[in-house]
Amino acid sequence: MEISLREIDVEALDAEQAAAELEALAAELSAHDEAYHTKDAPVVPDGVYDRLKQRNEAIETRFPDLKLADSPSEKVGGKLSSKFEKITHRVAMLSLDNAFNDDDVRDFSARLKRFLKMPAHAVLPLTAEPKIDGLSLALRYEKGELVYAATRGNGQVGENVTSNARTIADVPAKLSGNPPDVIEVRGEVYMTKDDFAELNRAQEEAGKQTYVNPRNTAAGSLRQLDPSITAARPLKFFAYAWGEVSDMPSDTQSGMVKKLAEYGFSTNPLMGRFETIEALLEHYHRIEMERADLAYDIDGVVYKVDDLGLQERLGFVSKSPRWAIAHKFPAELAWTTLLAIDIQVGRTGALSPVARLEPITVGGVVVENATLHNEDYIAGIDSKGQPIRDGKDIRVGDTVQVYRAGDVIPKIADVDLSRRPADSVPYQFPTVCPECGSEAVREEGDSVRRCTGGLICPAQATEKLKHFVSRQAFDIEGLGSKQVEYFYSLPDDDPLHIRTPKDIFTLAERDQAEELRKLRNREGFGETSAANLFAAIEEKRTIPLARLIFALGIRHVGEVVGADLARHFETWDSFVSTIDTAAKEAVAETVVAKERKAVLAASPAWSEIINIDGIGDSVAQALTKTLSQEAERASIDALIAMLTIESPEKIEANSDFAGKTIVFTGSLERMSRDEAKAMALRLGAKAAGSVSSKTDLLVAGPGAGSKLKKAQDFGIETIDEDEWFRRVEGS
Ligand code: IVH
Repeated sequence: MEISLREIDVEALDAEQAAAELEALAAELSAHDEAYHTKDAPVVPDGVYDRLKQRNEAIETRFPDLKLADSPSEKVGGKLSSKFEKITHRVAMLSLDNAFNDDDVRDFSARLKRFLKMPAHAVLPLTAEPKIDGLSLALRYEKGELVYAATRGNGQVGENVTSNARTIADVPAKLSGNPPDVIEVRGEVYMTKDDFAELNRAQEEAGKQTYVNPRNTAAGSLRQLDPSITAARPLKFFAYAWGEVSDMPSDTQSGMVKKLAEYGFSTNPLMGRFETIEALLEHYHRIEMERADLAYDIDGVVYKVDDLGLQERLGFVSKSPRWAIAHKFPAELAWTTLLAIDIQVGRTGALSPVARLEPITVGGVVVENATLHNEDYIAGIDSKGQPIRDGKDIRVGDTVQVYRAGDVIPKIADVDLSRRPADSVPYQFPTVCPECGSEAVREEGDSVRRCTGGLICPAQATEKLKHFVSRQAFDIEGLGSKQVEYFYSLPDDDPLHIRTPKDIFTLAERDQAEELRKLRNREGFGETSAANLFAAIEEKRTIPLARLIFALGIRHVGEVVGADLARHFETWDSFVSTIDTAAKEAVAETVVAKERKAVLAASPAWSEIINIDGIGDSVAQALTKTLSQEAERASIDALIAMLTIESPEKIEANSDFAGKTIVFTGSLERMSRDEAKAMALRLGAKAAGSVSSKTDLLVAGPGAGSKLKKAQDFGIETIDEDEWFRRVEGS
């Protein structure tokens, strides 16, 4: 099996692989640059970008001859937008090299001293200040008056955004104090987290699209063609650097920043000057801890040599100054307080603990909840019984470290025991369901505790109903989560209550009751919407077997398993009678574990189920168990009596696709993803969700990403949507 080049350590690459990887990295980084700088809409978190860039640089260091002429390591910023006039910077606006840990910072200091031929123990004062997550802006003042404002652009040439910059309160039109004749002040334009949240609230109220994060919103706001739009956005500015200066008013970094404050600029209060690396790092960690409480987003701490004479001697290495470095915070991590642990009860009764957090921005997204997985995870034990987080448990009131990996639900990485409240107690995972009071049990070998209430549990019942009406299941228009909750909340004596799926199909009948209690006279409904809902329900009285099986919400029975079962059994009767027989023959639960296997193997019905391709023991167990539960079975039987069930279309086993595994990726234009999968199944193929060595064919639409790349790495045949249709028609 081939593996992706990206997974090979830099040290293990041969020259040919390195050349290919440098090309691939250059293309990827350039696409990310374009998304970030030109469109203000990054598609990957900064941490991912940084890692790609580091990898590129590591390969270039190992294979200097292979470095591309337009290597990403030589580039600063993105392409320019053509809508603004250009301004050539008299002093280039450069970027900063990065440090990712304390040792990188020690190396930085040692490097400086070596370069300056200073002894290792000599004192070299450095400044440290937050790295503001905004966009840089250069402001040129002549005789104290603002002449122009320019964005960084590509570092050499920026965009003229003077009219927009004039609308920012922190950008003085006229300088105070005694400024030099010519001074170009540089700094960061940003938006506070509160202003960002407020702006998004207003957008939402107006029914408009909300913004992703404060940085991109600030960038988008500054680069408006209409300055009145910029003026309406609450932008702020911190000054921290300069370009051309006719007469330097100070000879240190810290002194210059003080001067900038005198001229009327906002400067960052967290800037400090330190004589030892240990003190510098201590400041870094202090800022890191305060990060969540700051009014604005920061993504690291910038260190600069304080002595401007030494800065001059140190100079630049290609795109960044040798005298400064940005110590980045670990990607996507943030500390915050765990306010509470709530338990959510799912469709299958699983009790899932959810962390309620003091809201915090992680990687540009406000996080308020995080998953805590299960009770062992909270206690500090993984699924194999091994300690996680060094065995530290998680308690309400703890200071916890939150992280996001890609787009997934936030998780908790660590707990700061030194900040644990003295009166805190270990979290007691409930042993009864918080929703219905039924016992919540953990089966042997299962890390999940489950409510045993079944349909009497309101949480399980509503989640089951929501699943039942969901898009891949019955897909009843006008009956979504909100409506399900409403109908479920009605008391027993209300004619329109819905408790189980069968009640959905008697709703119209029950609406024949008294006029006032008719659906059309209830809040949120009217004549039309009530009639539409009844019609939508009626339409789904006829349902394909696969959808029906999936809709029942049985554990382990997803869409694919539902389709596999439907294809095998073809009718509901054959499906249910085989399961009933298996349940009887196997009496799985009454048999001791050792004998169970033999008993199960001896059951022809059980064997029939588990021999269906793609179906195993756990599905068979879940099916027999669910259908043997009295209340559940009664509800299912009542439902079935009201439906017309369609058998699956016969598979064209002779097609060219018979037995093949197909993956669809990217955006498909001529069919929905569900339709594509259905087509594949009809042709006797299997549609899979991810690419593996077992994949036979990838159908890739525009925007295909990692799956396409993986398929190429595996050497899997890849076609586009048009070719797919040609082949389907021809087969
Ligand atoms: S100093 C010659 N200080 O980070 C380098 N930059 O990655 C001058 N940034 O383009 C930059 N906060 O947009 C400096 N306190 C700070 C900063 C800061 C944010 C940005 C700036 C720069 C980028 C470099």
